[in-house]
Amino acid sequence: SPRKVVVTRQLIEPAQKLLEAASDLELIQWPTDQPCDRSWLLEQAKGASGILLMLSDKCDKELMDAAGDTLKVIASFSVGTDHVDREAIRERKIRLGYTPSALTDAVADLTVMLILMAQRRAGEAMGKVLTGQWPQMPWSPLLMTGPQIRGTTVGFLGFGRIAQATLQRLIPFGISKALYLTSKPGQPAKEDHYGLLKEGSIPVSPASDWKQLAAESDVVVVGCALTPSTRHIVNSEFFHQMKKLAVLVNIARGPVVDTDALVSALETGDIFGAGLDVIENEPNIQADHPLLKQPRCVLLPHVGSANIETREQMAVESVKNLLAGLKGEAMVNEVEP
Ligand code: GLV
Ligand code: GLV
Repeated sequence: SPRKVVVTRQLIEPAQKLLEAASDLELIQWPTDQPCDRSWLLEQAKGASGILLMLSDKCDKELMDAAGDTLKVIASFSVGTDHVDREAIRERKIRLGYTPSALTDAVADLTVMLILMAQRRAGEAMGKVLTGQWPQMPWSPLLMTGPQIRGTTVGFLGFGRIAQATLQRLIPFGISKALYLTSKPGQPAKEDHYGLLKEGSIPVSPASDWKQLAAESDVVVVGCALTPSTRHIVNSEFFHQMKKLAVLVNIARGPVVDTDALVSALETGDIFGAGLDVIENEPNIQADHPLLKQPRCVLLPHVGSANIETREQMAVESVKNLLAGLKGEAMVNEVEP
């Protein structure tokens, strides 16, 4: 009998076509591009060989148990895999596909945007216009001033593809130096995706620890995976080390940053501003969230990879990973067990 696959969304056209062209599969698919019901997923997963899911679909033991031992492949439409119980898939020898290369440029573009928005107070400034306060705020030499990007030291927590693509974009802005921290502090990065470490026009070096990175950076970019050891690594101690004119940008996962500590750091002026694409407890952020009362914080609703071309490529690569996994072939990108 044909192998069953479950897909938790309708996909963009080229990906949908590729999926439907795989005639040897029994395709079970959530009918809209809105989040699928958990109960639907648990029910449909029974006997599935593969599941293609989104970062908002938890891939835990409950889901794997619901599928049973037919399950061989998970294809995640994301770069992050913190929604997947990695130990459980390792134990069950399930292959895990993901889409890291597809979204690097999109997220790096957004990271640069958030850095500039945080430094130049774009959220605060636009808020004044939207609430009709511009007439009370005539042009003046110090109106809405913030730190410049030229000459800054940029510190990266996590130095994978996205961080490196961000650095590549920042060098033409005239930054003077980059520091980075990976899981082995003080050690050179494992990969150099853009030749920045070999022949970069600026010094790019590993930080000896988080303290050095926090203390020396004018811009801190959080671009690491969320794991038990990165949860809340940006906490009140980190903010105390940071420069008063520094900005923090998080494009990774909300829980890497302690939100309460960030609110205090902004309130007390420990740091200048923040640009976030992710936050703890997203998407359940109400308009009265304390962070939204901080004018120097820009918060976007997790849209880092949201350009049209990227989402299309992520969809196509997810389907390719699913199909390759079922056939026992190489995926476009597979998470190492
Ligand atoms: C986005 O956050 C992703 O993991 O793809
Ligand atoms: C993170 O996984 C990245 O590719 O930057």
